[in-house]
This record gives sequence, structure tokens and C-alpha cells, in this order.
Amino acid sequence: MQVSDVKVFGVIGAGQMGSGIAQVAAATGYKVLLVDVSKDLVDKAKGKIGSILQKQVDKGKLTAEARAALLDNIEPAGDFRAFDKVDIAVEAATENTETKLKLFHAVDEVLPKHAILASNTSSISITKLAASTRRPDQVIGMHFMNPVPLMKLVEIVRGLQTSNATYELTVDLARKLGKTIITSRDQPGFIVNRMLIPFLNEACFALQEGLGTLEDIDQGAKLGLNHPMGPFELADLVGNDTLLFIAEVLHREFGDDKYRPATLLRNVVAAGWMGRKTGRGFYKYDDKGQKIGSSFDQ
Ligand code: CAA
Repeated sequence: MQVSDVKVFGVIGAGQMGSGIAQVAAATGYKVLLVDVSKDLVDKAKGKIGSILQKQVDKGKLTAEARAALLDNIEPAGDFRAFDKVDIAVEAATENTETKLKLFHAVDEVLPKHAILASNTSSISITKLAASTRRPDQVIGMHFMNPVPLMKLVEIVRGLQTSNATYELTVDLARKLGKTIITSRDQPGFIVNRMLIPFLNEACFALQEGLGTLEDIDQGAKLGLNHPMGPFELADLVGNDTLLFIAEVLHREFGDDKYRPATLLRNVVAAGWMGRKTGRGFYKYDDKGQKIGSSFDQ
């Protein structure tokens, strides 16, 4: 299969990553089948994409026709039975090994023989996911960054079994989506999270030790390092449950205590403060998603 043969995308998971991937693929002109555990969830995700695009129309950055065409390219579904028509499936489900292994096994059964099965996982072994399918050479990591439509990078991860043909096609496809690619070997956290997670975790250690306030630490990264967001703002964007999961993968798989998750991170997750998606993480957010203060101010 060549990149020009790819016509239909299947995206599994309509959360912030899956929705973003669907939006970018649809904007490039691909038909996208977007699935999650219920069609209702997918309809809501499509509605959210529509509102984001409407803001761009209102600002004159997008035409109403382009918005309509993009939305038209996204077909919501409650299961992946229709995946027998897709050329590439990108899985962006919750970061949970059992969930992903089950999904990979099931999606592999439905996909046509030529289709590539990619995962947006941020930490789970592509080699392991590939081994749960009958097409291990056609399995690859396609790790998008959050927020997908705004971030330029896609990290391509080759499992042990990934063929050159699968790799080359996925690189071409990511470039066609307007992304710049980097290639990582299949090691825990790949390239980006190998650097990011210890940074965010260290910020948690600093906060729990009282080195500075939440705001001081975030300002330190923004004004001292020129990062667009502070570590706690970014943690709330990524999702603290996801962050903890990746930290645990790094700790367990490398067997090195330098990756041990900070107690504060564990507690924030135990409290259910997952970040923007739950309206509260290290910060509290209002209904419009605006930050309204620290979660630690009583
Ligand atoms: N689609 C299209 N446009 C969108 C959009 C979307 N989904 N979401 C927002 N926009 C538009 C906005 O409407 C806005 O438009 P205007 O310029 O017309 O106002 C424009 O994009 C910029 O939006 P913001 O004003 O919110 O942009 P910003 O300048 O504040 O930047 C940011 C936002 C890009 C998120 C920036 O803060 C940033 O780079 N943050 C760091 C993000 C980061 O590090 N991500 C990586 C996370 S790690 C990861 O993803 C890997 C992992 O596995 C954990």
C-alpha cells in the first residue's frame, strides 16, 4: 500500500487525543470513522470539534464550507464493525495495557488485510501490542502530542516486528497530516515522555517538599525556561491519571527508582483530580475551562 492508497481512517477513542487525530485527518481530506464505547460519546466529541471550528469561522480563519466539509468527513460509530473499510486504524483509547491489548486483538479481526494498526500510546510497548495481533509487521506507534491540531510533532515508534513498508507509509502519512516526525525505538516512554515525565514528576517532588508554590514552579518554567505552560498546567492538560500511568511504566520497566512517582501525584489522582477533563487537577477550572485557582487553597 502507498500513502495515496489511504482513503479511510479509523480512530478508536473519542477523548481529547482521538478527537484531535480525527479532526486533523478529516481536515486533510480523509474519511474518518470515529468510535468509542458509545455513539453518544462520539457525537459529543464531534459536537466539540464543531464548536472549536466555529470559533475559527467566526474569526475568519476558516470558511463555513471548509468547516462543514471537515465535519462531514467524520462519521461517528458506537463500535468498530465498520472498520472493515479502513486503511489505517489509530487507537487512542485510555492508557491501560489490558484495554489496549483487548482492543488490538478485536480490531485486528475486523480490519482488512492491508490495513495498518497504529497506537497513539504514550508508553505501552508497541512490540507487545503487535504480538497480540495477526499482523505484527503492520503495527506501529503513532504518538501525537496534545493538543493534536496545534502540535507539530508525531513520534513514530517501531516495534521489533514493524516492517520497513509499514514504517515508511506511516511516516508519509504523518507528513501528509502536516506533522513533523521523529522516530523512536520501542522503549518505555519513547523519546518525548522519557524527557517530559521525569520533568513533571520532579515538579511534583518540588511542590510536595515546599520548594515553592504551585504558581512559583509554573512561573519558573514559563519565564525561566520559556516553556509555553508550567509543569502543573501541562500535567492538568495531559491528565494526571495518564501522567501517573506513564511514570509507573517508566519506574517498573526500567527498574530505576529515579522514575518513582511523587506521592503528591499519586494523591492528586487518588482525589480524582485528573486535570482539565474533570474540572480540577493541580488547578481548579470553571465551566469554560478557565483556570480559577490552585486546588490546594482551602
Ligand atoms: N483545533 C484548531 N484550532 C484550535 C484548537 C483545535 N483543537 N484548539 C485551539 N485552537 C486555536 C485557538 O482557537 C486559537 O486560535 P486564535 O489564535 O484564533 O485565538 C489558537 O488555536 C491558539 O490557541 P491558544 O490561544 O489556546 O494557544 P496558545 O498560544 O495559548 O497555545 C498551546 C496553546 C499550543 C497548548 C501551548 O500552550 C503549548 O504549546 N502548550 C504546551 C503543550 C504541550 O507541551 N503539549 C505536549 C503534551 S505531552 C504529550 O502530548 C505527550 C504525552 O504522551 C503525554
